[in-house]
Amino acid sequence: MGFIEEIARRRTFGIISHPDAGKTTLTEKLLLFGGAIQEAGAVKSNKIKKGATSDFMEIERQRGISVATSVLAFNYKDRKINILDTPGHKDFAEDTFRTLTAVDSVIVVIDVAKGVEEQTEKLVEVCRMRNIPMIVFINKLDREGKDAFDLLDEVEQKLKLNVTPLSFPIGMGYDFKGIYNIWEKNINLFSGDSRKNIEETIAISDINSPELETIVGDKPANTLREELELIEEVYPAFDRNEYLNGNLQPVFFGSALNNFGVRELLDCFIEIAPTPRPKEADTRLIKPEEEKFTGFVFKIHANMDPKHRDRLAFIKVVSGTFERNKPYLHVRHGKNLKFSSPNAFFAEKKEIVDISYPGDIVGLHDTGNFKIGDTLTEGEILNYKGIPSFSPEHFRYVNNADPLKAKQLEKGLDQLMDEGVAQLFTLEMNGRKVIGTVGALQYEVIQYRLEHEYGAKCSYENFPAYKACWVKPQDPKNEEFAEFKRVKQKFLGKDKYGQLVFLADSEFSIQMTQQKYPSVKLYFTSDFH
Ligand code: G4P
Repeated sequence: MGFIEEIARRRTFGIISHPDAGKTTLTEKLLLFGGAIQEAGAVKSNKIKKGATSDFMEIERQRGISVATSVLAFNYKDRKINILDTPGHKDFAEDTFRTLTAVDSVIVVIDVAKGVEEQTEKLVEVCRMRNIPMIVFINKLDREGKDAFDLLDEVEQKLKLNVTPLSFPIGMGYDFKGIYNIWEKNINLFSGDSRKNIEETIAISDINSPELETIVGDKPANTLREELELIEEVYPAFDRNEYLNGNLQPVFFGSALNNFGVRELLDCFIEIAPTPRPKEADTRLIKPEEEKFTGFVFKIHANMDPKHRDRLAFIKVVSGTFERNKPYLHVRHGKNLKFSSPNAFFAEKKEIVDISYPGDIVGLHDTGNFKIGDTLTEGEILNYKGIPSFSPEHFRYVNNADPLKAKQLEKGLDQLMDEGVAQLFTLEMNGRKVIGTVGALQYEVIQYRLEHEYGAKCSYENFPAYKACWVKPQDPKNEEFAEFKRVKQKFLGKDKYGQLVFLADSEFSIQMTQQKYPSVKLYFTSDFH
């Protein structure tokens, strides 16, 4: 198979949802279709049930040993499908945001009873801003839930999407009979048997044929006809280009647990979902078909297995081919690196590969060369954009609790920050270090990992900040900026790239600062340049 065919058969995507909507279950059923796993229960849930650190540690331990769960790849109908795992827990939202920079499309899972939930809203917003093509899967139709039309309205309003159903439920909960597949024009009857892989599918070319009554009964048949009529009137016809541009989102209904409606979703997905997409760098747009390799690091995973201390950097191949033992330019360091054992990911394992194509994820063993966002090329100087740091929501001083282990603490903090676990700010006034995180859970994680991986101990102390604002003066030499620095001295720090940050203690203080020093611009994400 040639280079172009290899690109054309790849689909790299992420599944996003609020915890418990069914992301893990859906992932597992997709893998079953790909023949990548043989039985249910094989995919480890990355769910953190009560937000407890012990859950997180257990998950990390399992993942450390089987790090491949971060990327699940399988073949289905000649397509190579790469699913990138995204944590659903809100404390790890930033990890998910970063992973979204490496996907070409997403599937959004929504619980039919709960409707659109908080985490879904946040994640979809990020996808919408980046025009990532999205398919919506409404799950748990075997349960009593919201009315299908009401849900479509809710999705449109809360998620600000423009939807069109490509399948529609016949009944729901106790009366759930099956699904009419608008895309394939057939009916799937629900038998509620989770052990069955392929449900009964009946082709029905004419929805007005009396056959429909015999299949689903008189009343449901009439209701379905009315509903389909309404759909045709209200919703736009599916248009692939609109979907690819992020302007239209097809919706499927089903039950992941019962493996119902999943094949339909997958079959449509491989037809319509985008092949690896071009990506914007600081100098130009890079197309996957370009001969020369480029790629970027979107995730770094510590190896929690005590026998293997190194980390794994996850690279998304954007263009060209990534080859084993070939030197590539690490743009930030300006030096060439060769990799003798790059990993590719399959359902549950990783293997050394000689060649990877655009859309693929390569795992590189790393002893500290990489930071999230680093770019690799064949010599061209360019940097991929779009991995911003968001302002943390929690801030604490970090203190060394074991004076003999100062070096270890520094190294540990440095590496954990490279992984993107949290953000470190060094105060201008006294050089003290402040850790900012999205969720409180990270503090325990950091403490645990510092101790277990680096042999260092830390303690925390509250730091009264509310938001980190990246500071950019219009003119670094003007008087206003000098005054701002003088007055706000106690609240100024540098992030790990040396950028100036104002750690504001309230919304009021941010507003006052903006009014008083209009030439000093404040930004809430770090990718303003
Ligand atoms: P997540 O990754 O999005 O957090 O969700 P996950 O797949 O773990 O599913 C959350 C719960 O919802 C699980 O039950 C799962 O079995 C259930 N579920 C998923 N899909 C369906 C469906 O189509 N119908 C119904 N009725 N339930 C569904 P749990 O009891 O929390 O976990 P478990 O003990 O079964 O693993």
